[in-house]
Amino acid sequence: MDLARALVFSCTLLLLCCSSTFAQNVGAPSLSPSPAPAPTPPYVNLTDLLTVAGPFHTFLNYLIQTKLIETVQNQANNTDEGLTLFVPKDGAFSSLKNPSLSNLTNEQLKSLLLFHALSHYYTLADFKNLSQLSPVPSMAGGSYGLNFTYIMGTVHIGTGWTNTKVSSSVHSTDPVAVYQVDKVLLPEAIFGTDIPPTPAPAPAPDISPAADVPSASGESGSTPKSSKDSSSSYRISSFCVWNSLVLATSAVLISFL
Ligand SMILES: *[C@@H]1O[C@H](CO)[C@@H](O)[C@H](O)[C@H]1NC(C)=O
Ligand SMILES: *[C@@H]1O[C@H](CO)[C@@H](O)[C@H](O)[C@H]1NC(C)=O
Ligand SMILES: *[C@@H]1O[C@H](CO)[C@@H](O)[C@H](O)[C@H]1NC(C)=O
Ligand SMILES: *[C@@H]1O[C@H](CO)[C@@H](O)[C@H](O)[C@H]1NC(C)=O
Ligand SMILES: *[C@@H]1O[C@H](CO)[C@@H](O)[C@H](O)[C@H]1NC(C)=O
Repeated sequence: MDLARALVFSCTLLLLCCSSTFAQNVGAPSLSPSPAPAPTPPYVNLTDLLTVAGPFHTFLNYLIQTKLIETVQNQANNTDEGLTLFVPKDGAFSSLKNPSLSNLTNEQLKSLLLFHALSHYYTLADFKNLSQLSPVPSMAGGSYGLNFTYIMGTVHIGTGWTNTKVSSSVHSTDPVAVYQVDKVLLPEAIFGTDIPPTPAPAPAPDISPAADVPSASGESGSTPKSSKDSSSSYRISSFCVWNSLVLATSAVLISFL
């Protein structure tokens, strides 16, 4: 009898412990332990950043080749305004067939590259408001505008030729934001408005891990971490509950003996 009571008591304790763990995880997902944000210097070397992230070599090489790397770095150095850069991965350039970039003049290429930049630092959440202002002028000038739509935390970009989305945040700390996009942004100001019809892509549910939850703080890299944390703690608590159930059942059995 005493043994059974002790068992029941310990099971209750275990259950209490588990449910409090669970409540913590459910109640405060954003407070999951993440490494303290290291005090980063405001200066971001874009060449370094685009070299290690990505692969963004094609975009970076174009910036270097046209010397626009200085223009965007200068904008990144401007701590009052800052910079937002949309960077396609190498694969986005290599899969670009029609139209291709091979026939562009140097000036057109420069405009196309600056079409990927905004002369202000924007967090992903800022695009909720920016979407009301479409088209938003890019660094290529007034006729090079980008249309943004903000759907369930995902930033979609439309240019007429290109419909794509921000697929991850590479860097987002005031004054510099670098976001990965799935496609090269093609401006109507270069390629014209005679856009060949494209088969409408199947509206896949947007559960891209990095871009769906823009962290309020705008820190890059914190989102994947916290989602990993919560899934592992979920696993731990379900293990706990299962364990307690087994213990409780055996306690009941023992008290009947
Ligand atoms: C940025 O990094 C590149 C490559 O490491 C280096 O060549 C360049 O001098 C750096 N620029 C500045 C302004 O520090
Ligand atoms: C940006 O700032 C860095 C560090 O202050 C400086 O070395 C670099 O020359 C600046 N680059 C441009 C293009 O303004
Ligand atoms: C590039 O220009 C040449 C000559 O104007 C043309 O024949 C070719 O089809 C163009 N290529 C592309 C990819 O537009
Ligand atoms: C976003 O727009 C709302 C209403 O249009 C406005 O009240 C709010 O201040 C804006 N937020 C930012 C960050 O601009
Ligand atoms: C961008 O948005 C404006 C305003 O909604 C619209 O008039 C224009 O057609 C859009 N452009 C593209 C390329 O989607």
